[in-house]
Amino acid sequence: METAKKEQRVLDPRIDMDRLPRHIAIIMDGNGRWAARLGKTRAQGHEAGARGVRLAIEACRELGVDALSLYAFSTENWRRSATEVNTLFRLMSKYIHKEIDEIDKHRIRVRFMGRWEGLPARAVKDLRYCIERTQNNRAMDAIVAINYGGRAELADAARAIADDAAAGRLRPQDVDEQMIARRLYVPDHPEVDLLIRTSGEMRISNFMLWQISYAEIVVLPILWPDFDKQALCDAIVAYQGRSRRFGGRPETKRKGASC
Ligand code: IPE
Ligand code: IPE
Ligand code: MG
Repeated sequence: METAKKEQRVLDPRIDMDRLPRHIAIIMDGNGRWAARLGKTRAQGHEAGARGVRLAIEACRELGVDALSLYAFSTENWRRSATEVNTLFRLMSKYIHKEIDEIDKHRIRVRFMGRWEGLPARAVKDLRYCIERTQNNRAMDAIVAINYGGRAELADAARAIADDAAAGRLRPQDVDEQMIARRLYVPDHPEVDLLIRTSGEMRISNFMLWQISYAEIVVLPILWPDFDKQALCDAIVAYQGRSRRFGGRPETKRKGASC
């Protein structure tokens, strides 16, 4: 925490270090529009987006955030052209190889959220390598959502519960919220406190539907390739200015919530 406090002074003195979001999720949007504005290709836009990923991970680590979830590829993104999809997976592999040493050095654990089925073999290999290499790290979790859909995640959880019920391992009347939460792709994280979306779009696009039920949403006008540490700090400052109620009175504090 001492290091985090020192970093925070450098990052943004407006941030109250005692009320940090424990789990931040980001919908990284706007690579295509960024490229179009500069007369570049969509592929160049995605390439430029890699910098934002690095800065988001770095800033969260420096501040002392426990978990950062990043929406990299949705179950709906398969609707894009084969060329764009291939580019995205090629860039993911490139990113992993370029950044893995730095990520591991800072004791960051990389986790995966999504459906493995349907991913290109190369992406599976690189992701598995990254996950296995960092599995014992505990400084921060970076959870990458690839081939991820919030509805798919809930459908997969429902199927797992139905399998257990059919095999006699549980009774339908035992199904409750905790049981569903335990069957999500990454079950052992605090719920999302702060959800950030770039590019000004006011929508969720099927991201973490269960986990964001009481997240504070901050939509930034900037496009993802322009995202930097200051943008993250601005979002945290906005989050800290909110009054979280969880359905109760303003002073109600839900167990486990940090703000
Ligand atoms: C986000 O940028 C990257 C992914 C969804 C993979 P977009 O490619 O969606 O960029 P825009 O929304 O077209 O600007
Ligand atoms: C959401 O962005 C998905 C990711 C950031 C990976 P999209 O650009 O795919 O979302 P829509 O189509 O604008 O809703
Ligand atoms: Mg988009």
